[in-house]
Amino acid sequence: MKSLYKILLLTVLVGVFYSCQKDSRPNYQYMPNMYEPVGYETYGEYDVFPGEQAAMIPAEGSIARGMSVYDYENNEEGYQAAKAELVNPLDSTMVDLKIGKELYDIYCGVCHGAKGDGQGILMKREKILGIPSYADAGRAITAGSIYHVIYYGRNTMGSYANQLNEEERWQVVAYVEKLKVDLEK
Ligand code: HEC
Repeated sequence: MKSLYKILLLTVLVGVFYSCQKDSRPNYQYMPNMYEPVGYETYGEYDVFPGEQAAMIPAEGSIARGMSVYDYENNEEGYQAAKAELVNPLDSTMVDLKIGKELYDIYCGVCHGAKGDGQGILMKREKILGIPSYADAGRAITAGSIYHVIYYGRNTMGSYANQLNEEERWQVVAYVEKLKVDLEK
């Protein structure tokens, strides 16, 4: 009799346990929050964000990680100010002319030429005209003016701010200054 009870108890326990698990229909969810998150969707509409319902716009004046502010405006005054006072923040131990050359050859050489004399392939084929030599005395470029021109472009030359990050721009500036010195020899 005793063992009959045991068998019965075991059957009930096994029955209860397996009744939760049924492959033919969805299983029961205990604590459904673990399966179905209640997080906010980026573009969801909620009452919790005042004003801006879509993706939150960064606070005014915020700067993306790794970026910095460039204080000179894209106009003639900005150009002249950068030319006069902006200097390369990379010191001689941080400047790497090998990196500078590599980037220069990729982004600038087609127009300005490998030597910076303004005789790049696009100039020779007359695809683009009016490219100056870096040694052009009338322009008397400086580290600041080179950086400014890379950042904003100038007349027919476009901006390279999106292709080069801040440090890379300064590496290119150092390399252009080297080319200028070599041209003036
Ligand atoms: C598509 C051709 C082209 C490319 C590529 C190009 N430039 Fe220029 N660049 C020009 C032209 C054209 C000018 C003359 C702009 C003017 O003053 O009218 C110029 C002018 C300049 C000047 C002199 C600006 C001044 O102060 O008078 C510098 C310095 C310069 N470029 C650097 C660069 C650097 C560095 C790169 C690469 C990141 C580059 N350029 C890529 C066409 C190009």
